[in-house]
Amino acid sequence: MPQELKNLIVFGDCRNMKELPDGSVHLVVTSPPYFNAPFDYPDLFKDYDEFLELMRDVAKEIYRVLAQGRIACFVTQDVRVKGKLYPVPADILRIMMEEGFNYRDRIIWRKPEGYIRISRRSGVQIQHPYPMYFYPDNIYEEILILQKGKYKYPRNKPELQSSQIDMQEFNREKWYLSVWDITNVLPLKGRIEEGIAAFPEEIPYRLIKLFSYVGETVLDPFMGSATTLKVAIELQRKAVGYEIDLEHLDVVKRKLGIGQTRLFNSDSSNSSPFEIIIRNDAKHLRTWLQEKVKRQRSVAQK
Ligand SMILES: C[S@@+](CC[C@H](N)C(=O)[O-])C[C@H]1O[C@@H](n2cnc3c(N)ncnc32)[C@H](O)[C@@H]1O
Repeated sequence: MPQELKNLIVFGDCRNMKELPDGSVHLVVTSPPYFNAPFDYPDLFKDYDEFLELMRDVAKEIYRVLAQGRIACFVTQDVRVKGKLYPVPADILRIMMEEGFNYRDRIIWRKPEGYIRISRRSGVQIQHPYPMYFYPDNIYEEILILQKGKYKYPRNKPELQSSQIDMQEFNREKWYLSVWDITNVLPLKGRIEEGIAAFPEEIPYRLIKLFSYVGETVLDPFMGSATTLKVAIELQRKAVGYEIDLEHLDVVKRKLGIGQTRLFNSDSSNSSPFEIIIRNDAKHLRTWLQEKVKRQRSVAQK
């Protein structure tokens, strides 16, 4: 992205990121919608194939906008809908590889044991202490790390100094492991992200430090409450986000301090405000979904 472009928020479908030129993004950190999960948007997709089609379209767009050698990270997990388990990370990985990405790594994000968003499935075993009743409680998500071709490591980039990784923090917090212990965002009432399946800031914080330089552009095509964008700005990167659900506008503005006293250090060279574009493919998603379900029911009754 040319230097003079601002941080950008687009309300619209990320299948089309026409505002971004080819090769203009240096890192993607995102978590796609959790296919029809009860805690996310239960009726968003007609079926799993429709979800996978979205993932394929987005994979193509991410490939187009990413610079050569750069990284796309997906935070995701298997989703159980009406008893059936869907292998979301495995399918995203396959689709991304089919669209040209190399599979670089997988990190397990382990949440504290006490926290289980979905039901305690292991309770079945307690009720029936016999074989075949075992369903474990899930306390992890996967962070899939994909790469667009080979990266040419710079020798004298001026950003090398300012983007240096704090090795004390790296060692203390055990970033070097393929399992990261990070507390999740608790679904508490009154939280700024209430109703949004947000990830904790620590995840984009580590990924942005590990895979981008100061001044570069970080994209989240499924922005949600704008966690990735907030952290990117705090780390002196440029931030771009796409979000289809206009209901999130206020949350995003609040989280980024847009229209209020500036949240970010005004000394930072990157404290420029966001440009917000509202395209006509943005939706008030929950209202749109309720109407869609009603329409489907009335067609079924006829
Ligand atoms: C799991 S949430 C992301 C949460 C985010 N990581 C955060 O910390 O707040 C996924 C988001 O993708 C959005 N979304 C779903 N389909 C989309 C599409 N086609 N284009 C853009 N955003 C979409 C949903 O509205 C939802 O806010």
